[in-house]
Amino acid sequence: MTAEEKRSFAVSVNEKFIDLGPQKVLEYFLGEFPGRAALSSSLSYEDQTITDMMVKIRKDARIFTLDTGRQFPETYELIDRTNMQYGISIEVFFPDFRKVQEMVRKHGVNLFYDSVELRHLCCNIRKVEPLKRALQGVDVWISGLRREQSVTRTSMQMVEYDETDDVIKLNPLILWTEEQVKDYVRENGVPYNRLHENGFPSIGCQPCTRAVKPGQDIRSGRWWWEDPDHRECGLHVR
Ligand code: ADX
Ligand code: SF4
Repeated sequence: MTAEEKRSFAVSVNEKFIDLGPQKVLEYFLGEFPGRAALSSSLSYEDQTITDMMVKIRKDARIFTLDTGRQFPETYELIDRTNMQYGISIEVFFPDFRKVQEMVRKHGVNLFYDSVELRHLCCNIRKVEPLKRALQGVDVWISGLRREQSVTRTSMQMVEYDETDDVIKLNPLILWTEEQVKDYVRENGVPYNRLHENGFPSIGCQPCTRAVKPGQDIRSGRWWWEDPDHRECGLHVR
């Protein structure tokens, strides 16, 4: 498929499925693109919800995670717990150790606090470059984005064409509220990160995520020292 064909395909599927809900669109893509549709999971409530839906459709559905090397112990524990509960094996992708080594030697281990540029450098090396590798051979990149999560996500669609990675991007939960996700997790016994119960509604790397107070913006604990309009790691907004 050319880029233009992928774009118009994404628009037509989006129109067809946006009101039918996440399960239907996942069923469609897992059936149409066997082995070529993959979920990138940060083990968040949203990604765990999609994992549960995907595994119920196809046990061999592809799920991968990007291990930045700086995640919370609770997140690592959840990878194992999820694999165990569903009898699956989440694919783990690591950053290139040479690039990490060079970056840390030059800028220090906690460079992200020093400037937005250095924060982006770290996210690029630890997340974006491994994502590119993970997406090789993938036609449909599935993600847990929701419009409600951030000012940077309000115009995203359920099915889109991602020009940067030349893939069809599927955001099954794009229209869901936080409550809908939590209800699904509760009702389906989905394994979740214990940090969610301790003030962490959105969880990324340990040094770049802090707890928030009840009622505060759910992403305000991510890169809290930066301007909210730019708080993205570069996976989705580049
Ligand atoms: S981030 O861009 O700010 O880090 P967020 O934590 O909201 O993203 O997650 C949004 C989506 O990005 C997730 O649903 C998931 O698809 C993807 N994602 C984020 N972090 C990772 C990760 N470490 N591994 C795999 N996918 C990730
Ligand atoms: Fe590095 Fe922080 Fe980005 Fe993680 S979130 S990759 S530690 S800058």
